[in-house]
Amino acid sequence: MRVDHPLNRRGVVAAKTERGRLQHTSPWGRRAICLAAAASSATPALVAQPDIPPATPPDYTVAFLGDQGWGLETRLVLRLVAARAQLLVVLGDFDYLDDPARWEAILSTELGPEFPVIAVVGNHDVLAWTEYQALLEAHTLRSGVRCRGDIGVNAVCIHGGVQFVTSGVGTLGFDHVRHLRESLAGRDAIWRVCAWHKPRRLMQVGGKLNEVPWEAYDTCRRGGAIIASGHEHSYSRTYLMRSFVGLEFEATPVLRVGSGANFAFVSGLGGRSVRHQVDALAANPWWAAVYTADQGARPGALFCRFNAAGEQRRAICHFRDIAGNEPDRFEVISENYPRSG
Ligand SMILES: [Fe+2]
Repeated sequence: MRVDHPLNRRGVVAAKTERGRLQHTSPWGRRAICLAAAASSATPALVAQPDIPPATPPDYTVAFLGDQGWGLETRLVLRLVAARAQLLVVLGDFDYLDDPARWEAILSTELGPEFPVIAVVGNHDVLAWTEYQALLEAHTLRSGVRCRGDIGVNAVCIHGGVQFVTSGVGTLGFDHVRHLRESLAGRDAIWRVCAWHKPRRLMQVGGKLNEVPWEAYDTCRRGGAIIASGHEHSYSRTYLMRSFVGLEFEATPVLRVGSGANFAFVSGLGGRSVRHQVDALAANPWWAAVYTADQGARPGALFCRFNAAGEQRRAICHFRDIAGNEPDRFEVISENYPRSG
């Protein structure tokens, strides 16, 4: 069984890297394994940004989930994703077995071998991270996701014109806040997402602790990026946040992201389990939606449809579970403007 790892235990992964080349029989391909292993063993580099993102296609839909596991409910959630989304963002904690081949097989079976996937490292992925990262590196090459950097730890990925700044903050790696800040500085993407695994205690409604600095949240807020995380096995979504460290929020029906405001959500119902809320945390006034075992939650994902009905600055998001419940639905408007000249 695995336990949560303390912050930045990069040495765990480095030790695995030293074992040498992996003997992997991956249907996602193994050409990139050496490249990824080399990247993992070095100090994460803050590399150049991907190219200027293309325009987002109409109704381009992204599914966000974390904490998957390997059972039937894991597969049922993925079937929802296959039917509704063009990209899956896995918010850490993959199969809980340190078994990259099994995780990959589940994804490949339910989504197809070339379904676009972006993922961030979770605490249950650290021991086999070199192998997981190699799979992701190879898969991004094949599925049309463009990524630069230390995949799943300090990287920037572009798909469907949306910029995803992925981070191991609180879980693995170094220099996360700088990576977030530099990745979001002067970006051209209308739609931006920060993705990491562990939410702060007040940014979830269960039993999780403070392993991520507020600075990470406020850096993404200032950069106009939606904040996606997992780790707690429930769903919760804030109102519009004006400051995270100051817990300043605005209970508006439409979330206007950019101009110093954004929102954060936890989507940790990928199939592993469904947990109860801590009532005092769930009652915090910045929550616009809470969906836990207390509300009868089932596994599911948050789906965000960007460029909704051809309005490039509009997105419609909803959480949907495997029983067909939709406990949250909301509209987002982007106020991020590309650089001119
Ligand atoms: Fe976790």
